Formats: sequence, C-alpha cells, structure tokens
Amino acid sequence: MSIKLPIKLYKRLKFRAKFSIIITFLVILTVASVVAVVSVFQRRAILEEVRKKAFGLTSVLAHSSVQAVLTDDYLFLQELIDSITDKADVVYAMILDQTGRVIVHSDSQDRGKRYTDDRTANAVKSPRPLLQSFRSLPSASLSTDQNNHRGQRMWDLSVPVLMMPGLKKVATARIGFSLESAYAEVARTRNRILLIGFTAAFLGIAFAWFLARAVTQPLQLLVAASRRIGAGELTHRVHVDGQDEIGELASAFNRMSAELQKRREELDRKIRELARLTNYNESILQSMNSGVITVNPEGRIVAFNESAERITGLPAHSARGCLFKAYLAPYTPLNTAIEEALSSGRIRTDNETKLLRDESGEHFLRFSTRLLNHTNGSGSGGVLLLFTDITRLKHVEEEIRRAEKMAALGATAASIAHEIKTPLTSVRTFTELLPRKFASPEFRTRFVNTVLPQVDRLSVFVDDLLDFGRIHKPRLRPTEVNAVVDEAFILLHEAFREHDVHVHQNLASLPSIPADSEQLGQVVLNILRNAVEATPRGGTIEVSTRIAASELEESEVIQLIISDTGCGIPQSNLNHLFEPFFSTKPKGSGLGLAISYNIVRDHGGTIRVESQEGEGTTFTILLPVEQTDRPLSLVSDAC
Ligand SMILES: Nc1ncnc2c1ncn2[C@@H]1O[C@H](COP(=O)(O)OP(=O)(O)OP(=O)(O)O)[C@@H](O)[C@H]1O
Ligand SMILES: [Mg+2]
Repeated sequence: MSIKLPIKLYKRLKFRAKFSIIITFLVILTVASVVAVVSVFQRRAILEEVRKKAFGLTSVLAHSSVQAVLTDDYLFLQELIDSITDKADVVYAMILDQTGRVIVHSDSQDRGKRYTDDRTANAVKSPRPLLQSFRSLPSASLSTDQNNHRGQRMWDLSVPVLMMPGLKKVATARIGFSLESAYAEVARTRNRILLIGFTAAFLGIAFAWFLARAVTQPLQLLVAASRRIGAGELTHRVHVDGQDEIGELASAFNRMSAELQKRREELDRKIRELARLTNYNESILQSMNSGVITVNPEGRIVAFNESAERITGLPAHSARGCLFKAYLAPYTPLNTAIEEALSSGRIRTDNETKLLRDESGEHFLRFSTRLLNHTNGSGSGGVLLLFTDITRLKHVEEEIRRAEKMAALGATAASIAHEIKTPLTSVRTFTELLPRKFASPEFRTRFVNTVLPQVDRLSVFVDDLLDFGRIHKPRLRPTEVNAVVDEAFILLHEAFREHDVHVHQNLASLPSIPADSEQLGQVVLNILRNAVEATPRGGTIEVSTRIAASELEESEVIQLIISDTGCGIPQSNLNHLFEPFFSTKPKGSGLGLAISYNIVRDHGGTIRVESQEGEGTTFTILLPVEQTDRPLSLVSDAC
C-alpha cells in the first residue's frame, strides 16, 4: 500500500479531525521526547550516585586495609570485608595481592585462590581505580554467593591498596556491586515519568480536541450558515462571540449576507418592475389599433399583437419564434419591407398596399418599418413593422370624393343655371311684352338693345362652357412663346387702347418648345384680358419671358410673366382663382383661369399667382423646354 491512500483519507477528513490529529500527534511527540530525555538523564543520575557510593565503599576498603595487608593481619581484614559485605548491594568484597591471589574474601572458601579471569587481571594490573560492568554468569571462578547473583547486572570495582598515597601498590581492594536495585530505581523513576507523560499526553490530547472543537465550532456555524444562505435563506445570520479572526469572519459573513439580501431585494424589485413594464408594454401593444410585428436580426418574429392577427388573419399565438419570411409569405409587400430593412437598413414610411384576404376580401394597409436598437443601444436590434388597416378610411375617402364631386356638380349646375337664367329672364320678359308693345318703336329699340346682347352673352357663355368641356389634349409642335405673346398683343391692341393702359414687353431670346400654340395663345389672352379688366386707366401691364433652371431636375423651363398694376386679388380669393365658375365680375363666367390652368397642366407646366391688394398681380407660367410628365418649379434665373 502506497502513502497515497492515507493522504487521500486525510484529505477527506474534516478540518476538526485534521486539527485534532495534528495536535494529538504533536502532543504525543513532545511528551515522548520529554519522557525519553528525562528518563535518560534520570538513569544517568541514579547510576552516577550508585557509582560514587560503590567507589566510596571500595576506597574505604582499600584505605582501611593498607596496614593490615602489610602486617598480614587477616583477622582485621576479614572483619573489614564482612562489614563491607553487609552493605546493601555489595555482592562480594575481596583483597587480592599483586598476583591475583585472594588475601581475604567475603566468601571465606575463596581465600588463597588465584583468579585468572580477565576482570581480575585488569583489576590487579590497573594503577587506578577501575570499574568493570558485567552481567554475572554462573562460573567456577565465582563463589557460591557470587553465583547466587548470577544473571544480574553488576559492577566490579577495584581500587589499588597503596603503601602511601602515590607510592607502591601492595594489593587491590575489590567489590562486586549489584546494580539490580539501582536499575529497579531507574525503572521506577521511568515508570513515574511515563505516567506523568501519559497524563500530560492525555491532557494535551483532550485539550487538542477541546481546542479543535472551539476553533471549528464557529467555522461549522459559518459552513451551516453558508448552506442556508446558498439555499436562499438570506435573512439567516451567524452568532459568533469574540473579536478574533473568526469573529471578524462571522461579521464579514453577516455583512455579506445583509448585502446579498439587499441586492436580492433590489433584484426582486427590479424584476417586479420589469414584469410590470413588460405587462404594461404588452397591454399597450395588444390594445393598439395598429398591427405591430417585431422581428429580431435573425429574422424571427418576436412580437405579433392582436391587431396584427386581426388585420392579417394569421394567429398571433403561433407567430412568436417563426421566421417572418415563412409566416408572412402570403403578404409579399410586408415581407419585402421587413426584408429590406433587415438586409440593407432601408426603411419605409407611410407606404400603402392592398391585401387580399380570402374570407374578407380586399384590405388596404398603410405600413411603415423602423429599425430597432439593440439592448446595448447600438443599431441592428431588428425591425419593427407597424401597419394600419385603412380600408374603412379608403371607403370614407371615396365617399367624400364622390360627395365632393356631387357638390361640385351641383355648384356647377347652379352657376350654369344662374348664368343662363339671367339673360333668359330678360329675353322672356321682352318676349312676353312683344305682342302688346310691338307697335311701339321705342319698345322695339329697347328689345333689340337688350335681347340681342343677352343672347350674345348666352352664346359666349355656351361657347366657353363648350371650350371648357371640350379641351382636347394639346397638339405639340415647336412653338415660339414670344410669337404667341406678340399675337395676343395684336388681338388685344384695341382693348389696351380703350382701357388706356401702358403695355411693355420684355422678351428674351428663347428656344422653341413643344406646345400647342393655339391653346397657349388662349392662356395668354385670358390672363392679359383679366389684367386689362383689373388695371385702372393709366396703369401698366408688362409681359416678359425668360429661360430658367427647373427646381426639380436638371432641365430648363421657360418663364412667361404677366404682371399688372391693377386692383390685386384678396388673399381669400387666391385659392379659388383656378376653380371653374369662380368670378368676381358681374358678367364673368369664371372659366378663363380654369381653362388656362388645364392647358398649362396639359403642357407639363405650372401656373402661379402672386398678388397684393391695391398694388397689382403677377401670373407666372412655367413651361418645360423639353417634353416632360412632371410639373415644373423654378430654381433660379438662367439669363
Ligand atoms: N389680373 C387680375 N387682377 C385682379 N383680379 C383678377 C385678375 N385676374 C383674375 N382675377 C380674378 O379672378 C377671377 C376669375 O378670373 P377668370 O378669368 O377665371 O374669370 P372671369 O374673368 O371672372 O370671367 P371670364 O370667364 O369672362 O374670364 C376674376 O373674376 C377676378 O376676380
Ligand atoms: Mg377672365
């Protein structure tokens, strides 16, 4: 088994167990070290004491025996030996001569024997005190008493017996000292130390567990709190006393929970607000009369309101998420408008289209497209299609147009009736009187002077009416506008003279233009005739022509300007000038300007009027130099 498994198991342990294991291990290591060191020192101390004691006894034996050895006083020596042997732990005592022969011995049987063992030899030879430790074995060289102590740890201590201190060695005092009681003391001491060590280790481990518990309990509280907060219980708080790091951690944790709770509440509030806003927008969208369809940049429908469903007949509930191309396939113009906006950013404004729906027939739609902003504010967030069913509006417009036509027809009929009725009344009155007053020459003169002009007036009116109704499309031929003006001047020469108006021409050199010279001449005559009629005696009429650039396209137009210093036209009448039968003159038909307007329009030109009451009036006719369908307007003078 490799070391990996215990490491793996260790990693799986909780912090508290890890902490306890480490502290326990450290406590055991410390206690074991202390016990080991103390035991060693204690053992040394005990043995040193025993050594001193044993050497003390041996030295006493050596010193006390000098005189007796020299005088061979065996009796004294034996008493001395016996007194030493009586001491505790002394196994044997002897005095040897220089050859290793026993002079006296605690075991009297060994007296006179010569020991030949190595220890004896070492003891005899040594000039200094000598300690030899050994474990006693049963031996023939040992006395019975000695053999009783076999197997014991022992010291053999020898001290030279000197004649005088520092002089010749005469014998060797030797003691066998048993260490059993010393080692028993060592064992006892070690056991006591071990007991103390075990107690200390137990207390240490208990303290370690307590400490682990004390340290990990707040952490466990924090872990439990984190789990509860993780499960959404944001109001939960941890209660840890103390100002230490754990206390600070708990406070930080509580602050974090409070902040989380605050953020959560804020988020909830924003979500509620968003939901409210979404509902609000949705209800606006749904209550709108216009159809609204929004499409995301991928071309999928995002919104499709009820009005869109009502107008298109396509279900709103299945629209969301569909590709607009497929969903709106039957409605090509709408499809194309979205496609254009999505692909090229081209939007439509107030376009109209016709929609054919099987069950409800023809529908008219007005639609626009808009580009939507992305949520980050940039463009290309998709396209909004807004459309309204204007079918009813179209019908109403049609009805109004019809009603207007009828009203205009009614007004026309009334005007015509009025124009015809007045001369007819005069003719009738005179015709009624004719049988009775025919004989009166005076009556006949009045008859002729009244009835004939009225009939002429009727005839002119009918001609004008026929002209107005009969205006045919202009027959365009190259026409000199200046020549048309000259012709009109010739025709009106008499009228100018009669009304005593000054006339001026200011004609520029012009290119010939495609025009119907007869119709154009009629326009110039009508406007000049009006000018003559509006201008008091001594007034001025001016006709000018010039060439100018068109406002709308890069082409040229001819400007024909007829201005007078006449009475001018009130602002309120300006808008009605070109309407048929609008006239302020007692005998005017009100068709001159209406006919002129139609002719100029048929030439692709336009006619404008500017007037100041009491100062005069200016009519400006714009005619295209080249044939065109579009109406013209002026930009600047070109000559
Ligand atoms: N140069 C002008 N100065 C002032 N008023 C003018 C001028 N030209 C036209 N008007 C006003 O415009 C009205 C309409 O003119 P229009 O030529 O169509 O009809 P009319 O002159 O009244 O009758 P007629 O059909 O006989 O020409 C005139 O009745 C007149 O009030
Ligand atoms: Mg007129």
